[in-house]
Amino acid sequence: MNGQAQTGQLSTRTLSRVVRGVAATDGAGVELTRVIGQPALSLLDPFLLLDVFRSDQPDEYLAGFPAHPHRGFETVTYLLAGRMRHKDNAGNEGVIEAGGIQWMTAGRGIVHAEMPEQEQGLLEGFQLWVNLPAAHKMDAPAYQEHPANAIPTESRAQGAVVRVIAGQTSTGTLGPIAQPLTDPLYLDVELPPGTGFQENLPHDHNAFVYVFRGTLDAEDANANPVRLHAGELGILSHGERLTLRSAAAGARFLLIAGRPLNEPVARGGPFVMNTRAEVRQAFADYEIDGEIDGVRLDCE
Ligand code: CO
Repeated sequence: MNGQAQTGQLSTRTLSRVVRGVAATDGAGVELTRVIGQPALSLLDPFLLLDVFRSDQPDEYLAGFPAHPHRGFETVTYLLAGRMRHKDNAGNEGVIEAGGIQWMTAGRGIVHAEMPEQEQGLLEGFQLWVNLPAAHKMDAPAYQEHPANAIPTESRAQGAVVRVIAGQTSTGTLGPIAQPLTDPLYLDVELPPGTGFQENLPHDHNAFVYVFRGTLDAEDANANPVRLHAGELGILSHGERLTLRSAAAGARFLLIAGRPLNEPVARGGPFVMNTRAEVRQAFADYEIDGEIDGVRLDCE
């Protein structure tokens, strides 16, 4: 043996950056925190946006998201508490309940409304936008929608619980969502105090953790400890093996990974294409006004 022991040894994923979200208002006046899709983190290819909403004040969510279009990517809604009614221009309608997931492929376009199905109480969840490659941006719209009881739960040592929404864990639990174009992993991980968590990820997929309860300990590239608090997103380095540990209060976090598309991204409001001309076309097709890169567009 020549001492080169790399074969069979998994490279480590470490924490490369910590990002906090910014307060934002979207839809008809919903208060939320934008974690991806804001100045400090405009994009984590293929993830275009991550919004976090959590409020028990009805005036912060009741206005909802009345009819608006999307084109060129996927919107992923995961609810922790509350109920959201979804309705689109193709006649699809349903209610996303607590613990449920809706993975909507907007493709060439859909006009939908997302409205709270409650007048009081807590509404909490996430909306993630996942990009589509150029060759599939104009595909037909599609839905993958699953209630809480269709999302497998993996119980690990020391009381750790992993809800597998998309992709497959290293121990083989397969989530209900499949998207071969970006091969996403979407896990909701709950750790009791002082509990370790390990997972394997494809080496080159971009990945992050978003902590929404408690605190989570990780290491940076120099093996220095980094503590992630609730409300913080940690971008992970490339690598294969992720090791985390909850601090004294326990932790609950999302672990999300996906294959980067490495294509140009042109954004304008609810449309994400590859070129400004394609975004301009989307505004025209939906006869709405909007902006591309801060430049105002007027469409008929
Ligand atoms: Co929408």
